[in-house]
Amino acid sequence: MNKGKIGIFDSGVGGLTVVRAVNKLLPGESVVYFGDTARVPYGSKSPETVIRFSMEDAEFLIGKEIKLLVVACNTASSVSLPALREFAEVPVTGVIIPGARTAAEVTKSGVVGVIGTLGTISSGAYQKSLKSFDSVSRVIAQPTPLLVPLVEEGWLDHRITEMVLREYTAPLISEGIDTLVLGCTHYPLLKNALSKVLVEDIRLVDSAESTAVEVASILDRKDIRSDNIHGENSFYVSDIPLKFQEIAQRFLGKAVPLVTQIEVGELH
Ligand code: DGL
Repeated sequence: MNKGKIGIFDSGVGGLTVVRAVNKLLPGESVVYFGDTARVPYGSKSPETVIRFSMEDAEFLIGKEIKLLVVACNTASSVSLPALREFAEVPVTGVIIPGARTAAEVTKSGVVGVIGTLGTISSGAYQKSLKSFDSVSRVIAQPTPLLVPLVEEGWLDHRITEMVLREYTAPLISEGIDTLVLGCTHYPLLKNALSKVLVEDIRLVDSAESTAVEVASILDRKDIRSDNIHGENSFYVSDIPLKFQEIAQRFLGKAVPLVTQIEVGELH
């Protein structure tokens, strides 16, 4: 089991932020990644469709003899975990509880904001998880659907992005949040732009980093940490879209070496 890989899936390339965080914290672990680039985005789709897609994504990774399944996509994590846990024989973790836990640890005022796709925010998953911690008294949740395309366009520090962020975060700031959960794979890339827009003492919670910490703690709890010094990554996608390398590199922080395309719907 210790030799198994960590399976990570996302609706597309955004989940590479989670691969990056896992590689950094756990360099000895090998990761097999699946990005459902043919069917992205999940953020605007119905929960039923997101659950169906997630099950197919997970089925593919389970076939790769993984020891742990990580749902890197916030939208998929917000609706699919119960179904995935019933189906998978390996431990399954999403990004929501790890992100909420970190927010609960850092908030002082107890007023926490969360931004995410329409699907993630409508599911209420972050709100429910945050409120389960005693240190959180109020949650202000805001769907921010324009941010994914801006990040994919590479407009990370663009003035248009700053304007959009100002508009989206104004209600959160006026409600007095002291912590903001970045509830989407793409948002860690906006930390710099957000720091210009937010009042200084608002703490940003990167759910990718929190998830890597959660992965480490599951591996230790189950005693399934790899004893390798260097792990290997392998990457699978359901489509290789235009500008794939350029966009994927932005999330992973380095070039994606070799990527294999597989058929969606025949994920066996
Ligand atoms: N990966 C998705 C998430 O974290 C963002 C992209 C999408 O809408 O599929 O919610």
